[in-house]
Amino acid sequence: MSLFVKKPLNVLLAEASESEKGLKRTLGTRSLIALGIGAIIGAGLFSITGGAAATNAGPAITISFIVAALGCAFAGLCYAEFASMIPVAGSAYTYSYATMGEFIAWIIGWDLVLEYAVGAATVSISWSRYFVKFLEGFDIHLSASWTAGPWDGGIINLPAVFIVILASLLLIKGTKESATVNAVIVGLKVAVVIIFIILGWKYIHSENYTPYIPDNTGEFGSFGFSGIIRAAAIVFFAYIGFDAVSTAAQETKNPKKSMPWGILGSLAICTVLYILFAHVMTGVTSYKSFAGKDGIAPVAVAIDHMGTTDAAGVLHPDYPWLNRAIIIAILGGYASVILVMLMGQSRVFFSMSKDGLIPKVFSEVHPKFRTPAKSNLIFMLFVSLFAAFVPSRVVGEMTSIGTLLAFILVCIGVMVMRKTMPDAPRAFRTPLVPLVPILGIATCLFMMVFLPGDTWLRLIIWLIIGFVIYFGYSAKKSKLRNPGLANEESDIDVIGKN
Ligand code: ALA
Repeated sequence: MSLFVKKPLNVLLAEASESEKGLKRTLGTRSLIALGIGAIIGAGLFSITGGAAATNAGPAITISFIVAALGCAFAGLCYAEFASMIPVAGSAYTYSYATMGEFIAWIIGWDLVLEYAVGAATVSISWSRYFVKFLEGFDIHLSASWTAGPWDGGIINLPAVFIVILASLLLIKGTKESATVNAVIVGLKVAVVIIFIILGWKYIHSENYTPYIPDNTGEFGSFGFSGIIRAAAIVFFAYIGFDAVSTAAQETKNPKKSMPWGILGSLAICTVLYILFAHVMTGVTSYKSFAGKDGIAPVAVAIDHMGTTDAAGVLHPDYPWLNRAIIIAILGGYASVILVMLMGQSRVFFSMSKDGLIPKVFSEVHPKFRTPAKSNLIFMLFVSLFAAFVPSRVVGEMTSIGTLLAFILVCIGVMVMRKTMPDAPRAFRTPLVPLVPILGIATCLFMMVFLPGDTWLRLIIWLIIGFVIYFGYSAKKSKLRNPGLANEESDIDVIGKN
């Protein structure tokens, strides 16, 4: 059988309805939107925005957010059609298996490890920095050796490992419980963003917006037009996660209806919040204030500038308490991002394992918790290693490039599917096909091009490792390509079953 063997749609849907030995269906539309926002608002907004404003875009960072949002919206519309048509755990991986064949599906599944697992590591590293800052507020100082990786001036990043372990254990216990914790955290996180916008609005000084697009310094990507686009590629990280909603399709009560709402709803809410947030942030103080070390906590810098200046010219912040509240919300908020990303990761591998492309340990469901517990444990280890030792810039850019590639493949997938399965029922149809997918591909590719060469190199190496595994293992074990294997292994999916 060929490399491009496709998984029939009816087989996919039959698998989805096999809820007896599958995952529990507990999530509704509201939980999905919460899941999406939980995955979206995080390190991108609270950490990365500051640096990108200071070194790339200035106040025009709002335009960067719009450019990145456009790419996500086009891809999101494509995701929504897929998710409403093929409501099976596994997201982009599963969609491409049905439309573009096994090999492309493998590439996407493998690539999604960059988005979900490496993305979770990125956020955990940022979590660790805020955690250190939080403790410093109580005069507790942790040694840099234990709170940063070897390339960031330490030995091992233990707080980052801690939060990865905590999130993994929560996931093992069950999706419903995790979704409840997530909903509380999401409420807190959104509240903080809204409070920041409302309180900050009256401290906006219009001179901070002049010039709105600072002149390019002569260096590519440093202000001007190229700066805005580079900043878009950087803050793109802030949007990653809305697609994680689609990985929970098999745990959703009415996925055909809820999936498009979950994906597009969470994306729309976050886009509006981001643009307003960035507008206030660069309005209360000059974008230059976010340069250097302060870029990591731009929110704290902005809040310190929300105040009144006395006769001697000293600025007195009006809301010092807000900073502390925000750090707590950020810690909780990051935790929810990590949680959803780890969940997305285990669900993608769940599907790949069901298809025989990776070992079946990844689709074993815990007899009591009904979650892929062993898979969660394996990824806990993998993500912890990245969190402990790899620099945040490296993992952050790998996450962005991997996600952009996945988005592009999903956009291509929708066009392919309209040709090959024009009559298959879809609860949601991407509007203006092929225009919307083509715009999605163009916008995402445009942002990818603006990422540095070493990030491209890492992506290529990662994909080569994937090819080796595919041809060395997956192609031989694929249930679709080797139907005999499927029968042999069909009844050993649940640990300790019988
Ligand atoms: N969008 C997520 C964040 O910003 C990954 O943390």
